[in-house]
Amino acid sequence: MPHPPPELEPLGSYRRFHDSEMIARARRFYEQIRGRRTVRDFSPEPFPEEILEQAILAAGSAPSGANLQPWHFAIVRDPEIKHQIRVAAEHEEREFYAHRAPPEWLAALAPLGTDERKPFLEIAPALVVIFARAYEVNAEGKPVKNYYVAESVGIATGFLIASLHAAGLATLTHTPSPMAFLNDILGRPKHERPYLILVVGYPASEARVPKITKKNFTEIASLH
Ligand SMILES: Cc1cc2nc3c(=O)[nH]c(=O)nc-3n(C[C@H](O)[C@H](O)[C@H](O)COP(=O)(O)O)c2cc1C
Repeated sequence: MPHPPPELEPLGSYRRFHDSEMIARARRFYEQIRGRRTVRDFSPEPFPEEILEQAILAAGSAPSGANLQPWHFAIVRDPEIKHQIRVAAEHEEREFYAHRAPPEWLAALAPLGTDERKPFLEIAPALVVIFARAYEVNAEGKPVKNYYVAESVGIATGFLIASLHAAGLATLTHTPSPMAFLNDILGRPKHERPYLILVVGYPASEARVPKITKKNFTEIASLH
């Protein structure tokens, strides 16, 4: 059976600007986003809940393969659940730093000064645990495949980080390895794969960050 034609609507949200305004807007965005840094020292001070809701709505507006939106965002504020996540993450990270990580990986991490201690998982007021939904389960309990899951969830996560930064909060992208314990602690189904933990809050007043640089335009782009 042929598929019915798609329903289309006008592109109502598009606004066209003059060239000079576009350049100014692109510069402003770069100025704002280049100030984002991964923070590892958080303040326990709570922040308004609505910021996280708006940021997750921003993430959920991201493009995704066939618009299947293969993501789930678990917001964790409960101190007991944060504690469980810290204990499980530190268990995995102790193994990682002591045994699992190959020397080259440890060398790449050395400039960041990271180790198996993850106090921020308890100190920060909120964690967003992002899950990638490899497939959906239909009414008959059969798996229905999602497409370009990793790409889609990565883009949505980028929107989430950018939104939280624009609102004035700091984030840490944390990927304990492996992360299956997050399904158990948060009661998420098997077809959701933990993607990463985003730690969210205000930076501690004495927060310091590694002195690193970003590649310049010619190092990351080519003109054809
Ligand atoms: C996919 C991904 C995983 C990361 N995992 C960790 C992590 O487990 N622990 C950590 O301290 N930082 C982690 N980071 C943060 C990076 O170390 C950080 O983004 C990088 O050093 C650049 O610093 P910046 O974010 O301040 O620009 C991760 C970043 C990404 C994108």
